[in-house]
Amino acid sequence: MSKRKPIRPSARTANITYAVRDVVILAQQAADEGKDLLRLNIGDPNLFDFTTPPHIVDAVVEAMRSNHCGYSPSSGIAQARQAIAAEAQGKGIRSVQDIFITTGASEAIDVALSALVNPGEKVLAPMPGYPLYSAVIQKLEAIETPYHLDEDNSWQPDTDDIAAKIDDKTRAIVVINPNNPTGSLAAPQALQAIVDLAARRGLVVLADEIYDKLLFDGARHVPLASLSDGVVVTFNGLSKSYLAPGFRLGWGIVSGPAAMVGDYVEAINKLLRARLSAHHPGQYGITAALEGDHSHLQTALEKLTRRRDLTVRMLNEIDGISCVAPGGAFYAFPRLHIDRPDTEFVKGLIRQTGVVVVPGSGFGQKQGTQHFRVAFLAPEQTLQQAYRKIDAFLRTFRKG
Ligand SMILES: Cc1ncc(COP(=O)(O)O)c(C=O)c1O
Repeated sequence: MSKRKPIRPSARTANITYAVRDVVILAQQAADEGKDLLRLNIGDPNLFDFTTPPHIVDAVVEAMRSNHCGYSPSSGIAQARQAIAAEAQGKGIRSVQDIFITTGASEAIDVALSALVNPGEKVLAPMPGYPLYSAVIQKLEAIETPYHLDEDNSWQPDTDDIAAKIDDKTRAIVVINPNNPTGSLAAPQALQAIVDLAARRGLVVLADEIYDKLLFDGARHVPLASLSDGVVVTFNGLSKSYLAPGFRLGWGIVSGPAAMVGDYVEAINKLLRARLSAHHPGQYGITAALEGDHSHLQTALEKLTRRRDLTVRMLNEIDGISCVAPGGAFYAFPRLHIDRPDTEFVKGLIRQTGVVVVPGSGFGQKQGTQHFRVAFLAPEQTLQQAYRKIDAFLRTFRKG
């Protein structure tokens, strides 16, 4: 007779969490109990009044009608890789050695790390930062070494902290610019200091620039790879700037001295070949996106600027909350001046008000501080309603 014992999952998955989706379960419970949800938890523009530009959709539909429905080459179709190369060159990215198209930037991140780090090796990653990096590093049985973003200095990367934490086991430094969850834009001097440190110590810089076109106040994005003589893998994709996260298309650009990256590029390509290809017809949308009309960005940024301003103003008016103004992306990471964990605050908030945000602890934060992340993609009226509810809830929470 067969034994019916529960299947034992791998130990490497034990500590993997993804706070952004974890709150969804709580939100569902609140909805089942009749609460109207105000969803400020997910960075998905298409849940609100943002739609994929039609010329990008048309290019994909046309590709499907033309039967580009088989597998594509493992690194992606030539015309999309050429469009990515041309854009990289225009942005001053030097010595591009390889371009690979993936299932979202998420897969590019997974592949770039998997081809680089061995169990027990270290990757420096920002704290607060995007939790996918922690999950992949854990999966690889490598070690994440968090470095601080300084809230007192508009969440700038603390380059002294980075320098102090590099050791012989360190292989890479992750930079997310603009950052998720803080929305902060790193100053060029900080970026230069990071690439110089990395080049001196022979480290790979993983530059996550998926929000590079979503900048406020006329700011200009400086690609990390444009400052570096060392090895950089730059991540980008269609999810954010092109309002198409459901296409699941992203890419990685490997740049740096040819003599340094040959084996690494081959390792990346072995992994890419093993998983066949990214979504083939969708890749025609990459060419349309990068080479076509970009006017959707102006409209999106006008809306997002109003929503950012309202977010920063209303949150800073709440007694017990302070909020650094984001310079890009569509997130803010307000600080809660409370003496209980932010997870407790967020659970109570969702249950009692239906306002869904993500606890700061899901992104990493300086010990002893409490935060939450809001995605300010919703229309102003929804945001206003949500911030009023947060204000009222915090008053009772602080008494409790
Ligand atoms: C910093 C950052 N990198 C990568 C991703 C994943 O992007 P994709 O949808 O292209 O997989 C996200 C998604 O929110 C993100 O915020």
